[in-house]
Amino acid sequence: MLKNTFFYIIGIVFLMLAKIKNHLKGYASRSFNVSEVDKCIEYDINIVENWLSHLQKYTHDANYLAGKHVLELGPGDDLGIGLYLLSKGCSQYDACDVHDLMQYTPDSFYEQFFEKLAAINNQADIGFLKAQFIAAKQGNSSKLNYKVSHDFNLVSAFGEASVDLVFSQAAFECFDDIETTVSQLNVVCKSGAILLAEIDLQSHSRGIRDWDPNYIHRYPRWVYNLFWFRGIPNRLRPYQYKEAFERAGWTDISIVPLKKLDDLDKSYAGVYKDFADHKNQMDYLSIMFCARKG
Ligand SMILES: C[S@@+](CC[C@H](N)C(=O)[O-])C[C@H]1O[C@@H](n2cnc3c(N)ncnc32)[C@H](O)[C@@H]1O
Repeated sequence: MLKNTFFYIIGIVFLMLAKIKNHLKGYASRSFNVSEVDKCIEYDINIVENWLSHLQKYTHDANYLAGKHVLELGPGDDLGIGLYLLSKGCSQYDACDVHDLMQYTPDSFYEQFFEKLAAINNQADIGFLKAQFIAAKQGNSSKLNYKVSHDFNLVSAFGEASVDLVFSQAAFECFDDIETTVSQLNVVCKSGAILLAEIDLQSHSRGIRDWDPNYIHRYPRWVYNLFWFRGIPNRLRPYQYKEAFERAGWTDISIVPLKKLDDLDKSYAGVYKDFADHKNQMDYLSIMFCARKG
């Protein structure tokens, strides 16, 4: 009881700090800086490899990406993921974000990225990838297509029925309105399109994340909303994503826990009553969510 009261108060401090930081510095996506180039490159490559490994399990096809039109939601700081996906054989990479985080990434990052790609894949057509990058930067037509849409309007950004595969990493938990996003995915995706999204369900604040991963779930909505800013976790639970996609006609939904709390009782300790029912799966800290458009 005393421990929960302590964490409740500490949590308020962290919510306040997150809001102040966002107000002063704007939205920050990663825990490390874009100047840590090797780390960023490794991060991008690992994300894609992880997606592809889950995609293979989901589709039972090791080469599913080949020739596919990909859309990434919330790509964050750089186009490394897009370049890597193109090097792996997708036909088109589109990406959409509400924050223009890529503007801070220097060209030197991409020079190192191309060097790394050439080193790990001697089949990669670096000339082609560089041409796509330059075209994208100049605002010309490119297989690497990054759009910033402050209202996150996927339909006006990408049109109708073109996308085969949707990927997303640690972004769904930031979306303002999951129903609207799913209904827009219904328009931009082809029938049978597949979505793979890693969703980070726990607190984003680094100082408290390891101590009290579910602290954002301790508060009633009105308290949590006092600290709202665009990009704060929306606190949706796995079943709510599932229901939103099912309502929009998506099928074959798979939810794989990637990070879990071992102690089930501890994962529910001190959570607000809205999250107390076991359908909330509070022991799930991050998941891979997969679905197929019907
Ligand atoms: C935690 S970052 C992850 C970025 C990147 N995928 C990565 O793994 O580094 C969350 C991403 O979601 C985007 N985002 C934040 N709030 C959003 C919102 N309300 N709607 C859509 N995207 C949002 C951010 O701009 C950012 O790209």
